Amino acid sequence: MIIALIATSLKKLSSDQVGLKYDTINKNLDETPQKEGLHNGPPGFEFIIFPSVYKTLTFDDLRCLNKDGVIITLDVSYQYKAQPAKLHEIAMNFKDYEGYKKVLQFTGESALHEACSYFDTAQFQAERVRFQETVRNVTVRKYATLYSDITDLQVSNIARPAEYEDAIRSKERAREDIEVAKNERPRLLTEAMTKYREANTTAEILIDKAESEARILQNRAAQEAAAIIEQYQKESEAYKEILSPTGLGFTIDGFISYMGVRVISSAKNPVYIGMKSPAQTSYLP
Ligand SMILES: *[C@@H]1O[C@H](CO)[C@@H](O)[C@H](O)[C@H]1NC(C)=O
Ligand SMILES: *[C@@H]1O[C@H](CO)[C@@H](O)[C@H](O)[C@H]1NC(C)=O
Repeated sequence: MIIALIATSLKKLSSDQVGLKYDTINKNLDETPQKEGLHNGPPGFEFIIFPSVYKTLTFDDLRCLNKDGVIITLDVSYQYKAQPAKLHEIAMNFKDYEGYKKVLQFTGESALHEACSYFDTAQFQAERVRFQETVRNVTVRKYATLYSDITDLQVSNIARPAEYEDAIRSKERAREDIEVAKNERPRLLTEAMTKYREANTTAEILIDKAESEARILQNRAAQEAAAIIEQYQKESEAYKEILSPTGLGFTIDGFISYMGVRVISSAKNPVYIGMKSPAQTSYLP
């Protein structure tokens, strides 16, 4: 009997627990939290046990609507712990740790929805740090009314809808392509200029060459013309000499006959001549 009484009036709390004594017979809940160790109480008492250390709460792929009404998917985790001084009120309100944990879970989710609604899609991209701070602030505020402290809150993933990500990515790609084209432009211009200069130089060379060849031909023609004129001049001098009375003293008829003989003798082909008769083939005086 004594052993049985002692067994039912001795309860143990481990190092990570804190508890309130509850007298199941008189329905009386103690106000002072007890820590690790062996405790005795009225026969048949129980401990209403809460963790004395921080516990982790995780939200994976939580979907919320942002300020623009776009669905954002979040991974969030943080640690929470009931305030020991408020354990009595917590137990009165939520019965036990299981009930309390459920309320903390729902409240945390509601805090995430609230924080989500303060940010538009662009802000989710640009202000991740401020978003995490907002999530922390809202959660801390809501958890304070439940006598729970929060630490180590992490927003580890913020995902926008796939179509939105695709649109952003193709916009980025287009911008990069434009940059590449802009960077290429001077190079292409230089290339084109180089080709133009090469072609220009080649053209100049060809023009110079053609001009100098033309000059040479012109000079040669002029020299030949001069030589021919000189030759005829010499010949005409000679003929003048032949005809002059102080020279050989040819008559005109004799001279023409001489010229005729010269033409005929230097001709390569047969020559046919029509002459007035009586023909005179010798003009010697
Ligand atoms: C979070 O709360 C702190 C302290 O109240 C405040 O200084 C800060 O501006 C808040 N941050 C955001 C993003 O609301
Ligand atoms: C070559 O370039 C010069 C200077 O740019 C220009 O004056 C000239 O007309 C060009 N030559 C040809 C054949 O285009």
